[in-house]
Parts: sequence; C-alpha cells; structure tokens
Amino acid sequence: MSLNADAARPRRVRTAVLISGRGSNMEALVRAAQDPAYPAQVVLVLANRPDAGGLEAARALGVEAQAIDHRPFGKDRAAHEAALNAALEAADVELVALAGYMRILTPEMTRRWAGRMLNIHPSLLPHFPGLDTHARALAAGHARHGATVHWVTEGLDSGPVIAQAEAPVLPDDTEDSLAQRVLALEHPLYVEALAQAARSLQAG
Ligand code: GRF
Repeated sequence: MSLNADAARPRRVRTAVLISGRGSNMEALVRAAQDPAYPAQVVLVLANRPDAGGLEAARALGVEAQAIDHRPFGKDRAAHEAALNAALEAADVELVALAGYMRILTPEMTRRWAGRMLNIHPSLLPHFPGLDTHARALAAGHARHGATVHWVTEGLDSGPVIAQAEAPVLPDDTEDSLAQRVLALEHPLYVEALAQAARSLQAG
C-alpha cells in the first residue's frame, strides 16, 4: 500500500467568492486555490450584477459563476439574499469571501454566516470604513495606507481583523496611483487571510 499525500491532507473548505465588478481579488483567490495544498477550494463565484467582468474571468478559470441580479428584487434585500443563500447551499458552501461585493448585507445575512464570511477592504481599518478610501487617506494626509481582511459582522467594515498589509502614501500620489499600490498588496493578503480562515474551520 502506498501513502497518498491527498488522503493525508485535511479536507479543503468549500468556498464561494462574491463580487460586483472586475474581480481581481477573486482571480487571485481562485488561482491560489488551484493548488491542491491550499486549504480552501473555490467552488462558486456569485455576482449581484450580470455585467460583472469577474464572472467571465471565473469561468475561464474553470469555476462555476452565476449572476444573481439584485435589481429585480427592488428594495427587498432579504429576498435577494435568500436567492444568494439558495445558490450557496446548493453548492455546499462553508465559507464566503466578499471581494469587491458592493451590497450592504442585512443583519440576518451576517448572522447566518457569522464566523464563516470574510471581506477585503482597501484601508487600514479602523481608518476609512465605507467608500472612497484612497481619496480619504490622501485628504487626511496619512503617511501609511493599505488593506484589511476582516470577518464580516453586522457593522459596516468593522468585524475582527484577520490580516492587514501596509503601503506608504507618496508625496505625488493620486487616488489612482494609491489604489494601484494597495490593490497589488490586496491579492497576496487575501490569499493568505483566506488560507488562515479556512485552516481555522478545518481545525474547528
Ligand atoms: C478592492 O479594492 C477591494 O478591496 C474593494 O473593492 C475592490 C475590488 O476590486 N472591496 P476587485 O473587483 O477585486 O478587482
């Protein structure tokens, strides 16, 4: 009998990535998860916009990707989230990574996924929760900026921090140059933080 490395490995955590747009963080997570030694397996990509560029990118990488458009649900966030949850449950998802997902979640949704949903935010939280983080970091004159991966809780961008990466703010930075520098940090940061989160679920 030969020892099989795969058989010795703990099972990989079934993970979905939720996006609204280009999905560069999602792509970084999917590529990392192509390594069978990575503790999370990306089994589903969901977007709340049918025109999200990341949907095609995910399919090109061999991952099932679906749009669940929020617009037909109007103001009924809970009904849209019920549709998301149905897709997540159908794919046996255990862990959800928000990656540029631009919808506020209801408290019921964050409770439903407590300890099993993470988000990447382009600032050094607790600085600059919400939108326009790069412009706000520049306006505030901060010398350091960066990105945070955190557990999702009811409050906006305020759950426990899993990991952060820092970048300097340079004297001639614009919002775009700063955004690019931070985005380059986001991808490896999210890959590491998702691995950490998946390992904590494997252990639990
Ligand atoms: C990233 O800056 C992320 O931190 C923020 O939205 C942006 C999404 O970019 N939440 P992408 O879709 O992953 O390229």
